[in-house]
Amino acid sequence: MADGDQIPPMFDMAKEASEALGYHFHLPDQENHRIARVSHGQKSVLLEYDRCYPINNCSSVAIVDDKSLTSKVLSSINVKTPRGSDFYVQQGFSEQLSHNFWKVKGYLLKQPAHALEHAAKLGYPVFVKPNDGTFGNLAQTVASPIELTEALRGIAQQYPTARIEEVVQGYEHRIYVLNGRVVFSYRKRPLTVTGDGRQTFHALLEALHHERSHIIGIANVSEKFINQQLAEQGLTRRSVLPKGATIALSPNANPNEGTYIDDFRREVPPACSRWATRIAEALNLNACGIDMFAPGTLNDHPNTFTVIEVNGNPLLTTIEKLGYRQLAVEIWQEVLQTYFQDRLTKTRPLRRQRRICW
Ligand SMILES: Nc1ncnc2c1ncn2[C@@H]1O[C@H](COP(=O)(O)OP(=O)(O)O)[C@@H](O)[C@H]1O
Ligand SMILES: [Mg+2]
Repeated sequence: MADGDQIPPMFDMAKEASEALGYHFHLPDQENHRIARVSHGQKSVLLEYDRCYPINNCSSVAIVDDKSLTSKVLSSINVKTPRGSDFYVQQGFSEQLSHNFWKVKGYLLKQPAHALEHAAKLGYPVFVKPNDGTFGNLAQTVASPIELTEALRGIAQQYPTARIEEVVQGYEHRIYVLNGRVVFSYRKRPLTVTGDGRQTFHALLEALHHERSHIIGIANVSEKFINQQLAEQGLTRRSVLPKGATIALSPNANPNEGTYIDDFRREVPPACSRWATRIAEALNLNACGIDMFAPGTLNDHPNTFTVIEVNGNPLLTTIEKLGYRQLAVEIWQEVLQTYFQDRLTKTRPLRRQRRICW
């Protein structure tokens, strides 16, 4: 690797875990480090950065990449998801799929015009996001058909489908499940600035930049979004923020958009643990991150929980930034050990059993 080249954070943790286990770690893609190979004796496994858990089934990862399909699987096991639906937002996309009638069939009523009808039925505000998005990209609450139309246009530039759903209330958490047990959870909230009647918005925002312990992604907050929020309240960056007035800095609580994280736990209540592991099991995922809302805390009854998405490639960078790098490396150790043990115990001669993918 050339000097100064950075290993992507998940691979850096996997490397440390491999070294601790006596496995060999190698980056075959010298150009941008998207691939890693971990070898143990005669066995080895390739990891791809966006699908880096070798213990996850690739069909399951594809299913959870689609938020609407995830919702269908979860509804079938009576786990609550937001009321909503997905719509094609790129002109001509359904025509492109016409050779796949089975795929288009369910979407005949899912063109952009129907999205507005659907939102009206749900009642504004509604939440809109790419159906297969990541990192909170373009995920936002919209309050009117005009805002929704603008949001759908933005999504159409990058994604074929958008999902429109009810806005879920309560407190959002990430629950991480590995090999049938919860390993950690934390609560996340979109970043906000609250006025004290003395300082300007600008000064309060500057202070937040220095208060780093629970705040992730503040460097990414969108200037445009903040200016819109201020304008809606008739304020500018130089205005003294009235006491108690709150300005949102991020449209959602994904760590990439700016989030305030607290209530980090290594153990969750038993009922919550059973609920979370049942979800991982139903989706056939050995490792996953469940993004969910509870009305209050994880002590609430699980039948009040709502899952907004399940992540089949949950990054450990957030817990690393929170100061739990050692835990992230231990998780990687378990992932790699699970993979190699699994291979050692389950591998059959190729002719008798062929694994197509992991
Ligand atoms: N229905 C919803 N109601 C309220 N907030 C939501 C809703 N769906 C998503 N969000 C917010 O948007 C963020 C991103 O949405 P999510 O479905 O997790 O997609 P991704 O993280 O893959 O971009 C969530 O972390 C949450 O803060
Ligand atoms: Mg998410």
